[in-house]
Amino acid sequence: MILVLNGPNLGRLGKREPGVYGASTYEDLVQLCRETAGKLGHDVDVRQTDSEAELIGWIHEACDGRIPVVLNPAAFTHYSYAVRDAVAQRTAPLVEVHISNPASREEFRHTSVVAGVATGTIAGFGLQSYVLALHAIAEMNTTS
Ligand code: DQA
Repeated sequence: MILVLNGPNLGRLGKREPGVYGASTYEDLVQLCRETAGKLGHDVDVRQTDSEAELIGWIHEACDGRIPVVLNPAAFTHYSYAVRDAVAQRTAPLVEVHISNPASREEFRHTSVVAGVATGTIAGFGLQSYVLALHAIAEMNTTS
């Protein structure tokens, strides 16, 4: 099982700033993750919330269950020490993903408070960032 967790405003993909995030919808993202995980022989549970508390609860669930995570913390990336502290408790690989490349955008997006406690970060490849992250997790599971 792999958890794919998405933070605020990502449920609005397709409608939200398509010039930045593309025309694909959140449902397209769920489908892409399911297809990718299926090909890699893994089950996947894809979730989205606008609530910091709910996201932290899901990260705790992954920590307690030793479940690998693909996490797009969205705007929480840049300021949520609470999300960072939850991720720091991880017991399995956790890959931070971003659809856009925050490093090429506004200055406030250049800081990720999560990156230092994630296994690694994949950013800037559109929805393919999730595909790459799922491959990375599958690879880590088979080689470790
Ligand atoms: C994002 C980048 C963040 O800066 C932004 O707040 C998001 C989406 C991305 O996937 O590109 O909501 O995480």
